[in-house]
Amino acid sequence: MIKFDAKRKIFELSNKEYSYYFSINKLGYLIHLYSGKKLNDITLERVNERYIERYAYLENNKEVCDESYYFSEQGCLFECGSYLKSDARRPFVIIKHSNGSEITSFKYYSHQILSLNVSPKDLPHFRVSSSDAETLLVTLKDEVDEIYLDLYYTIFKDLNVIVRFSKLKNLSTKEIKLKRLCSLELDSVNKDFELISVHGQRGDDRELEKIPVNHNLTVVNDNHGGRGFRQNPSILIKEKDANYDFGEVYICSLLYSGNFKFEVGLDEYDSFRLNALINDDCFEFSIKSGESFETPECVLAYSSEGINKATQTMHDLVRDYLLPKEFAKKERPILINSWEPFLFNFDTEKIKNLILEAKTLGIKEVVLDDGRFGKRNNDQSSLGDWDVNLDKINLGEVIDFAHKNDMLFGLWVEPEMISPDSELFKTHPEYALYDRNYKPTLLRHQLVLDLTNPEVVDYIFAKLSNIFDKYKIDYCKWDFNRYLSEISSLYLGDEKQSEIFHRFILGAYKLLNKFVERYPKILLETCASGGGRFDLGMLYFSPQIWGSDETNPFSRVMIQFATNIFYPLSTIGAHVSASNSLSMQDKIIIAAFGTFGYELDPSKLTDEEKKTILSLNKIIKDYHHIVTRGDYYVLKSPYETNFASWMCVSKDKKEALVFNFNFKREQTKARFIRLKGLDPDKYYFNSLTNDVYKGDFYMNIGINISAPLKEGMTMLFVVKQVNSIVKTVLNSKAQKEKREKLL
Ligand code: GLA
Repeated sequence: MIKFDAKRKIFELSNKEYSYYFSINKLGYLIHLYSGKKLNDITLERVNERYIERYAYLENNKEVCDESYYFSEQGCLFECGSYLKSDARRPFVIIKHSNGSEITSFKYYSHQILSLNVSPKDLPHFRVSSSDAETLLVTLKDEVDEIYLDLYYTIFKDLNVIVRFSKLKNLSTKEIKLKRLCSLELDSVNKDFELISVHGQRGDDRELEKIPVNHNLTVVNDNHGGRGFRQNPSILIKEKDANYDFGEVYICSLLYSGNFKFEVGLDEYDSFRLNALINDDCFEFSIKSGESFETPECVLAYSSEGINKATQTMHDLVRDYLLPKEFAKKERPILINSWEPFLFNFDTEKIKNLILEAKTLGIKEVVLDDGRFGKRNNDQSSLGDWDVNLDKINLGEVIDFAHKNDMLFGLWVEPEMISPDSELFKTHPEYALYDRNYKPTLLRHQLVLDLTNPEVVDYIFAKLSNIFDKYKIDYCKWDFNRYLSEISSLYLGDEKQSEIFHRFILGAYKLLNKFVERYPKILLETCASGGGRFDLGMLYFSPQIWGSDETNPFSRVMIQFATNIFYPLSTIGAHVSASNSLSMQDKIIIAAFGTFGYELDPSKLTDEEKKTILSLNKIIKDYHHIVTRGDYYVLKSPYETNFASWMCVSKDKKEALVFNFNFKREQTKARFIRLKGLDPDKYYFNSLTNDVYKGDFYMNIGINISAPLKEGMTMLFVVKQVNSIVKTVLNSKAQKEKREKLL
């Protein structure tokens, strides 16, 4: 997969469908040549160098001109753009040298094709073995000092993906300051790109936003210290004309839950540059002699066949190489969560009743959300005091009761937080992260713990272990309900204050790591006021993330649609609540395309609703493997049409689950649901019209749904391969009943 042509000094990273080429130029810079559809060779070595000027410079006060060499840094496509030299675009790295200079320019030093995959230490990373991917390490050296930069490129055998990260090593004798270091830079000729980013806020957790890539630098970022609500650390770059099924598309995503940044734009020569990095606002790391710094990994997923293929690539990558192995492809139990029905108002009997009621509905797991510890009967106290409030609930009894009733049991925690009204704050006020010269902003009456301090990480882990060692807990919801403010750490001291953001997230990862190492069988679901920390970093620890506190189905469809583009459906916590804007059936169908569950009081359900829940729970159980492991296709986008329409197809193309939702009501329009991803030559039965057609019929003509559609009409149906003999039988009217029994 990785080759180096020593004569032409060209690196090639290729798999069956994708190629990435770069070279070392005469001056030692890494020149980006090509990224795109598989090429068998790069015939033009200087394909992307611009022929504008002879290369000239001043030496010993004399102009030296290389008559044979035309080179300018401006507009040139690099792998690692320099700073304060001739390239005025955003650089790959900025170092403040010991003499105060910030000129940063790295040139080729050495390279290695590694037999073992290497990943950044202390950061979440893809779990890759050498049979699935190959890694190229190119080491560059600072033009002046003994500072080295390792660029890692891992290309996957069966996925059009390159994962990159970088490592800066200070081998000089002096301390330097690292002010910026990218995980990835992608330079390219302009292909009329557009950028799709994701923004949101609690309740409107994720929305897509599309803008043209132009000469104004666009920054997609978060600087709240670990809550990517504002913007998500995944973006999509596509050719303007590309759509869900055609054209060149990249998805770029950072494995990072802290402050991040993507910079996207064209320069004055129309050259495109994308940088992906830890946000360099309030970031300056001291790197002493002999020390190093590693960036998070960053994914570049490529598709020459539109957005759907890029999405499928991301879904496969995350399921196969990122999620904890134990749960990655496993169907998750249908759960019920106590939060929306009870908030803080529950006791032993209430939860036991919830267990009994839920059991009759085919639910397999009950989750006790916030409120069972300290004196927490509202959100104003006790974060940090993780011991069980035995006056409120007999946790052991409830857990035994759940298990006896064949139900799994889950618990809520918010380990990174501290309430000022808590025993922890009384004994360890120094554990809170805020500047003592300011009035710290309380959000939801709470402060953030100083996880830059290893003692705090160990303390909280010990408190959590007391609970998780003692009780037989099967699932844990790990919440994070505020962002960082008045940022200052007593522990780090004056010199290191601009290292807080990154060190905080390293501390959070350390805590999560300890947790998953000690409790590998516990199904972890992360959360941040809903889906405020939905990123690949979290998915390394938790195979699912609560999608949003918004459970209104109209909004849910939009949130799930945006999330699905970047993250596998099995990672999106989606629950049915008591929200009354649509019927129980509609709400279940929408939530079925995520990690499915309920947040309602079953004792308040009507008999009709209970019947619906029972029958749909069965269908979900039977078909959820398609959602969990299948290929996802957008059929219609709610950003462009009145429909949100998508489907999941099993990898063997034998079964599919189709979803269709219209927002406005329609009375007269001709509408067809055209399917994707089926085998054109095989026959399929569909449970919407109870007909059998060939795959090419479904994909080219589609299923006719031209009938008056009321607003918020939700359709879910199964498409199942049948053989042609079955087809004739099934198409006879007399066999209609038999047909229905198929499902
Ligand atoms: C956050 C979560 C909710 C719930 C509450 C509990 O808001 O998103 O699902 O767990 O915290 O306080």
